[in-house]
Amino acid sequence: MIALGADHGGFALKEEIKKHLDDIGVAYKDFGTYSPESIDYAKIAYKTCQAVVSGECDKAILCCGTGIGISMAANKVKGIRAACCSDYFSAKYTRLHNDANALCMGGRVLGPGLAIEMVDVFLNTEFEGGRHQRRVDQIMAIENGTFQIEN
Ligand code: RB5
Repeated sequence: MIALGADHGGFALKEEIKKHLDDIGVAYKDFGTYSPESIDYAKIAYKTCQAVVSGECDKAILCCGTGIGISMAANKVKGIRAACCSDYFSAKYTRLHNDANALCMGGRVLGPGLAIEMVDVFLNTEFEGGRHQRRVDQIMAIENGTFQIEN
C-alpha cells in the first residue's frame, strides 16, 4: 500500500500519479489534499508519513510545488527517509543506496511523464544493502541521538 500526499502545488501531479497507479493496479491511500485550494504542506507530510511509520503503508509519494518543503517536513518524521528528486537516476539510486521510503517531487518542476517514470522506478527498486546499510544506519543513529563519531 502506497501513501500519497500533496499540497495545492502538488495536487495536479498527485492526481496524475493516482491515475497511473490505478492503471497498473497498485493500491494506494490518498491523504490529501483533495482540491487545488491552498493548504500547508507540513500537515500533509505528517499525515502521509505517519501511515508509513505505523506500517499501514510501505512507502510514501509526496508532492508540493518544488518537492522541497514537503520533503523537509517528511524528514522530520521519525523513521522517514524522504528524497526530493527531479530526475530518474536519483529516484532509482535513493532506493538502491539510501533505502528511501518517501519520494518527493515538485508539481511545478516536473511533467507527469517523467514523474510517473520516477514513481515506477522508486516503487520497483530494492535497497542494495551491504555498505549502504551501514550508511543508512548512521543516518538513523543521527535521528535517534546515538551517532558516535569514529576516527
Ligand atoms: C506553495 O506555494 C509552495 O511553497 C509549496 O508547494 C512548496 O513548493 C514548498 O516547498
